[in-house]
Amino acid sequence: MELNSIPYIASWSSSSSCFYYSYSRCACRGTRDGKLVTKASAAGRKRAADSVCSQLSEQGTEDSISGPRSSWRIRRRDLASAILLPFLIPRVNISIAAEIYDASIIRSGVRSVLTKGKAAGVLRLVFHDAGTFEIGDGSGGMNGSIIYEVDRPENIGLNRSIKILRKAKEGIDNVQKVSWADLIAVAGAEAVALCGGPEIPVRLGRVDSSSADPSGKLPEETLDAASLKTLFSKKGFSAQELVVLSGAHTIGGKGFGSPVVFDNTYFKVLLDNRPPQTSSKAGNGMAAMVGLRTDWALTEDDECLRWIRIYAEDQARFFDDFRDTYIKLVDSGASWRTA
Ligand code: HEM
Repeated sequence: MELNSIPYIASWSSSSSCFYYSYSRCACRGTRDGKLVTKASAAGRKRAADSVCSQLSEQGTEDSISGPRSSWRIRRRDLASAILLPFLIPRVNISIAAEIYDASIIRSGVRSVLTKGKAAGVLRLVFHDAGTFEIGDGSGGMNGSIIYEVDRPENIGLNRSIKILRKAKEGIDNVQKVSWADLIAVAGAEAVALCGGPEIPVRLGRVDSSSADPSGKLPEETLDAASLKTLFSKKGFSAQELVVLSGAHTIGGKGFGSPVVFDNTYFKVLLDNRPPQTSSKAGNGMAAMVGLRTDWALTEDDECLRWIRIYAEDQARFFDDFRDTYIKLVDSGASWRTA
C-alpha cells in the first residue's frame, strides 16, 4: 500500500463523509484546493485540513508538485483511492484515524457557540443524557438519546441547549462527523472550563442511539438523601460521587453564588445556610429558594455531609474529584466505535 494513501483512508475510516473533505481542504495544495480552504470558515476546519496536510508532507507525497500535470495526478489518485478503498481499509493505521477524529476540532466548534451564560444549560444536558444509565440492564447512558427526549417534563428547557449545540454540530460535521454523545460530553467539559472549573479530558468515539432511553431514570427533585444514594448507586456512583456531581449546581440559576463561576460556593452555601434559605432573586417581591430540595437533602446525610465539608474547604479537591467523576459520567453506558 502506498504510504500517501493512509491519511485519506484514515480520515475516511473515522467518518465516511470526511474522506474527500479532508483531502480537498488541505491548505498547502494548489489553487484548486486553496479556494476550498478559503471557503472553510470554522477554525476547526482549517486545522483539520492542516493536520491532514502536515501528515502528507511528512510522508513526502508528490502533492507539492504544481501545474496541470500534478492536478491530473491528484485526480487520477482520487479515482484510484475510491476504487481501492474497500481493499485497503483493513490495513488502516488506527492511530492516525484517532488523531484525525480530533477533540480540538470538536472543542473549536463548541467554543464558537458557547458563552458563559449558556454554560449551565449545556452542563445540565450532559447529566440528562448520561443520567438515564442503569447498570442492572445496561440501559440508557451517554448515547445522545436526549435529542429524542426533550419533551419529557424533566427535560424542560434543554431544547435551548440542544439548539445551541446543533449549530456547532453542523459546522463540525463538515470536517468530521461527530456523534451527539461525543459533542455533548465535550461541550459539558468546555462549559465547566469556560466558567473557571477544571479542564476535563474527554475520550471520543461514542456511538449515538437511534431512539429514546427508558423514561423515569433521572432523580426527582423531591428525593431524600437515602433515595438519591440508592438511585445513584444503580448508575454506578457512590455517595461521594453523588455529592461531587451535585456541585454542578454551583453554576446556573439555583442561586449558589455567581451563575457563571464554577467554584466550590455550592458546598460553602450548603454548610453555612442550613436549613434552606431564600433569596430575593425571583423579583416581584417573591423569594426564590436557593438550591433544590435534593441539594439540601444531602446535608441531612452524614456520609454526604462529610464530603460537602471536604469540598467546602478544599476547592482543588473538588475540582480533581469533579473531573474524575465527570469522566465516569460521560463514559457511563456509552457504546464505542471500533475504528
Ligand atoms: C442529584 C440529583 C439532581 C437533581 C434532582 C437535579 C435537578 C435539577 C433541576 C430541577 C434543575 C433546575 C432546572 C431549571 O431551573 O429549570 C437543575 C439545574 C441544573 N442541574 Fe441538576 N439535578 C441533579 C444533578 C445534577 C448533576 C449530576 C448535574 C451535572 C453534572 C446537574 C447539572 C445541573 C445544572 C448545571 C443546572 C443549572 C441549569 C441552568 O440553570 O440552566 N444536575 N437540576
